[in-house]
Amino acid sequence: MTANPARRRPVIAGNWKMNPDTQEEAVGLATEVADRVQDMSAISVLCPPAVWLIPVAAAIGGRVGVGAQTMAAEERGAFTGETSPLMLRGIAEWVIIGHSERRQYNGETDETCRHKVASAVAHELRPILAIGERLEERRAGATAAVIDRQLRIGIADLQRIAGSSLAIAYEPVWAIGTGNAATGDDAQAAAAQIRGILRERDLEGADQVAILYGGSVTPDNAREFFAQPDIDGALVGGASLDAAGFAEIVACAAELRG
Ligand code: 13P
Repeated sequence: MTANPARRRPVIAGNWKMNPDTQEEAVGLATEVADRVQDMSAISVLCPPAVWLIPVAAAIGGRVGVGAQTMAAEERGAFTGETSPLMLRGIAEWVIIGHSERRQYNGETDETCRHKVASAVAHELRPILAIGERLEERRAGATAAVIDRQLRIGIADLQRIAGSSLAIAYEPVWAIGTGNAATGDDAQAAAAQIRGILRERDLEGADQVAILYGGSVTPDNAREFFAQPDIDGALVGGASLDAAGFAEIVACAAELRG
């Protein structure tokens, strides 16, 4: 099997977004996921809302990775509502940076992502930098240009890629929450472009980076993505709220790329 020449371990991250409503539900979901995936040879990561990070981390007891959905670049200070990298350390190992919903509703830009990615790495958190084009950008033929810009700026402050624990999620905005996933071929084309840009920066380090696809990933279509040579996992939204379905996606990644 030559699909995974660099032997990257697959990463399946569940982005719960602003769900569920109660701590009891969050702990129940996390526990059920951990029970189902703990022996699988893929890295699973759960990214609950900040307020559920501690009870979720306690419930899964290290059997599954924990990630935050965002964080401030700064360590402390007058940043109302924010969570700092110092606060996350010891609770989460991962953090999603620059999700398109943060860009759309919270004013995050390529520049803020640049600071946050560098801050995450400096604080030994694994950033999952989310990039991807909007529908109008795709229609204008600007997909490759958007990926190029968001990625180059997002990683501009990293000294090196090797050893940075960086992950990149290609999430075309038009595919998020729509049921209209990208094709495996389109996702692979974006992932190969991303890998190429990373290689320009760091030939050796580029092969260490997990590149994930996100946007309407389900147990039914996961195989199409994990069969691609440059796609090392998925960032899963809606389907991550169902423990059995999420575990099926993890099992598929483990089978094809573990
Ligand atoms: P869906 O899987 O619900 O389309 O969401 C994808 C996403 O935004 C993950 O970060």
